[in-house]
Amino acid sequence: MKSGYSLIKRFQQSRCMIKIFITISITILFYFIFLFRPLLDYYSYKELNLQNQTKSLDRTLGFDHIYVVNLDYRTDRSKRLDDIASYLGLDFEYFSAISKDDVQILNRYGSADMSPSAKACYLSHHYIHKLMVAENYNNALILEDDADFELNITDIMTDIHRDLPTSWEMLYVGHCYEGVGEKVGKSSSVHRLYKSVSPMCSHAYAISYSAARKLIELLDPVIPRGTFDYSLKVLIDEGKISSYSVHPQPIVQWTATDNPSDISQSIPLSFSLLNSTSLFLGYKQ
Ligand SMILES: *[C@@H]1O[C@H](CO)[C@@H](O)[C@H](O)[C@H]1NC(C)=O
Ligand SMILES: *[C@@H]1O[C@H](CO)[C@@H](O)[C@H](O)[C@H]1NC(C)=O
Ligand SMILES: *[C@@H]1O[C@H](CO)[C@@H](O)[C@H](O)[C@H]1NC(C)=O
Repeated sequence: MKSGYSLIKRFQQSRCMIKIFITISITILFYFIFLFRPLLDYYSYKELNLQNQTKSLDRTLGFDHIYVVNLDYRTDRSKRLDDIASYLGLDFEYFSAISKDDVQILNRYGSADMSPSAKACYLSHHYIHKLMVAENYNNALILEDDADFELNITDIMTDIHRDLPTSWEMLYVGHCYEGVGEKVGKSSSVHRLYKSVSPMCSHAYAISYSAARKLIELLDPVIPRGTFDYSLKVLIDEGKISSYSVHPQPIVQWTATDNPSDISQSIPLSFSLLNSTSLFLGYKQ
């Protein structure tokens, strides 16, 4: 009798143990789901974000960001660039350029013998370098609003990035009057990478973060050495910045005759692309 009683008691005890076990298991599962869910979400978010980053680099020609210097009232130019961006799948951020009529700002800078529009151009680029550093971009492509592109600019830049040394500071994707320097890399593409040789013009150049900091310091807008592109060229000639150039240039200045440039009104630039995106989209020169 006694042993039968203790058997039942032991059975009840073990049932109790099972109940406790199940309760603990459910509690652990509950905590797992509700505590670790955010962790799982975080990892999948990170993965998505990485995908987004890769995607967004495609939309910025392999750079962290693309700025376009544009005077607010030149909507004719931003409209053409909007068309190009949407056709080529690119993201541009427009930067409100300093105008030659912004007398107050211009007077704060430089007594050098430069025209108001040359001063305004210099300052616009200076402010973009500061903005880029403030935004903490590793690098950025800076365009002026008269830029025109090879239709396959994305493929061209993919090739160029393969050859570009990781230590690059400047890359002239577009330039003027430049001699062809020493070849860099092994690409057999039409558009290839070279060391820069006294590049001029500033319609399409990329800079690294460290170059942006150097330029802010070395290209002081209070005591400019000359126009912005000339001052840059001097720094490169002096070896203060390591610079590369693409030949033939895949980004040129679009010079419509009825659409005089606000920056350099006099120089007729006759560099042409193999296959111009602006012409392809129906714009007439
Ligand atoms: C990825 O980019 C898209 C479009 O810009 C955006 O809607 C989405 O929230 C982004 N995803 C993440 C995880 O950042
Ligand atoms: C880009 O297009 C040109 C013709 O317009 C062609 O010669 C060149 O090989 C192309 N480059 C790439 C990288 O696809
Ligand atoms: C330019 O590219 C377009 C689209 O790929 C093509 O249809 C056209 O024939 C090309 N034009 C020239 C001159 O290569």
